[in-house]
Amino acid sequence: MSVRFSVSSLVLTACMVAFAGGDFFSATVHMEGLVWVESEMARAVRNYVRLGGLVPPELQRLAEGTAWLSDPTQVDPNSLVYNPIGAYLLIKRLNQEWANAIKTLPQPQEVFGELYDELQLPSLADLEGCALALMRLQDVYNLDMRRIIDGEIVMKCRPNDTDACHDVNVAELKNRTLPLKLSILDVFYFGIVAQSHNDLYHAALWLNETLAIMNANQCDMCPDRRDVLERLADTYSKLRNHRGALQLYSESYRIDPTNPYTKSRILDEEYYANLQGSYVWQLQRPDDWEGRDKYEELCRVGVLQNRALRSSVSCRYFRPSPYFYLGPIKMEVLHETNPVIHLFHDIVSESEAARMREMAIPKFHRSVVVGDDGGDAIILNRVSETAWHFDYDDPVVAKLSRRVDYATGLSTAEGTAEAFQVVNYGLGGQYIPHTDYFEGDHVTRHIQNGNRVVTFLLYLSDVDAGGATVFPIVDVAVPIVRNSAAVFWSMERSGAVVPNSLHAGCPVLIGSKWIANKWIREHGNEFRRPCGLTPDE
Ligand SMILES: *[C@@H]1O[C@H](CO)[C@@H](O)[C@H](O)[C@H]1NC(C)=O
Ligand SMILES: *[C@@H]1O[C@H](CO)[C@@H](O)[C@H](O)[C@H]1NC(C)=O
Ligand SMILES: *[C@@H]1O[C@H](CO)[C@@H](O)[C@H](O)[C@H]1NC(C)=O
Repeated sequence: MSVRFSVSSLVLTACMVAFAGGDFFSATVHMEGLVWVESEMARAVRNYVRLGGLVPPELQRLAEGTAWLSDPTQVDPNSLVYNPIGAYLLIKRLNQEWANAIKTLPQPQEVFGELYDELQLPSLADLEGCALALMRLQDVYNLDMRRIIDGEIVMKCRPNDTDACHDVNVAELKNRTLPLKLSILDVFYFGIVAQSHNDLYHAALWLNETLAIMNANQCDMCPDRRDVLERLADTYSKLRNHRGALQLYSESYRIDPTNPYTKSRILDEEYYANLQGSYVWQLQRPDDWEGRDKYEELCRVGVLQNRALRSSVSCRYFRPSPYFYLGPIKMEVLHETNPVIHLFHDIVSESEAARMREMAIPKFHRSVVVGDDGGDAIILNRVSETAWHFDYDDPVVAKLSRRVDYATGLSTAEGTAEAFQVVNYGLGGQYIPHTDYFEGDHVTRHIQNGNRVVTFLLYLSDVDAGGATVFPIVDVAVPIVRNSAAVFWSMERSGAVVPNSLHAGCPVLIGSKWIANKWIREHGNEFRRPCGLTPDE
């Protein structure tokens, strides 16, 4: 199921680690590099100890805890970062536990040798990015928060789902050696990250859960109760849950009556709570953008499609050019018209897909959306890494471009089509609804070769769950099918754009999503795709 890398590409990945500049969570392939880094560090420590060296007990514990990573009989180590909880815990181990243990060594080079000089561990920004990603997945896939804390990814039914709906455990990670449970400090940390991003909804959920766990258990490693109380109270206050806030500030005041902040807050909350009379407060998820519910619903459909065979699809052999006479395309029709959406099965080979992925890794940079969005917009809307492959880069690229030409009947020569855009999505990486054709202000900037007529979206990997391409207006979810291509048309023959081609990339829930896009332009294809007899043809 998963993308496995040969030893040589592992080395390549490890090189990337040194240059990634802190954005590990933005592409799953970088996270795989971190799995390798951890296993190499652990191996170095174990070797050092075997040769009689002494290391602090904490370092020894870390090294032994990850011994399974270098055991070839175990499950694919990369699957650790395909699970968002595993990815978060890995980043945390490296950013906190390993980093702190290494700091206590007077001569780290003695233990780690050359590895130490190139070592770049993930930053706090990576850890925050992971936490935010997990909270985004929690929403889109309606994940059970309690089960996340227990290390399980379970998609809950929604109130309006049919009776037949069952909660789906998406990640039955078999034979897992590392515990994926979150500690109460992790739960609290999620609340703090949400609060610091002014995401009051998730702050309320995770801080309230922190308090609930503290109330239910005696914990040895509990966060400071007053800190938890006040953070949750501040959050409730901003959400206008004044009675809830009042109660929490009062409890905090009982713990420490000398704190002037709590005292003044109590007076405020009392005042507002009285104003609200019998108003009953409920935590509501904010409406971030129009159409979100539909998008999320289709993303969940996409997960179910990954898990079961799809029924009632129309399939046929398709021979768009002589190239396909002997081996016709196995075409699945997902939407007949407005827009046409097809899935071409087995359109690339395993080795071609591997070559496309491998070539992309050294070229990767953080994907940006067209437009001048700030850093946050990039993080939240498009967490992925992008590389462009031109036909002259490699014979495989040229061969695939020609195949796109034969399959679509449109020219993919330079100037009539864009280079292949290869993307590896990161944790929670998604792409919110957009059209591929250009409109408005973007037209003049991007349209010198004409607008985008068709999108040829190659799936260069499969995933265990999530990552579907969804078309919310026409209610279609295209699941990820390894080595296939989703092909959809953004323009009619008449030259009119197709607004129904609005689509989005759902975040990956489990796995590493690799795609390659080829966009074909109008210019150079006027004779290949002339106007039809009627405007809507
Ligand atoms: C559930 O259905 C009810 C009645 O059909 C509707 O009023 C409500 O908005 C729906 N809720 C959601 C979350 O779709
Ligand atoms: C994984 O666990 C199952 C039972 O839970 C066992 O049958 C299987 O042999 C195990 N696989 C490995 C690789 O340990
Ligand atoms: C807070 O936690 C309690 C106990 O688990 C739960 O009953 C309550 O619904 C939670 N409130 C919110 C707003 O999450």
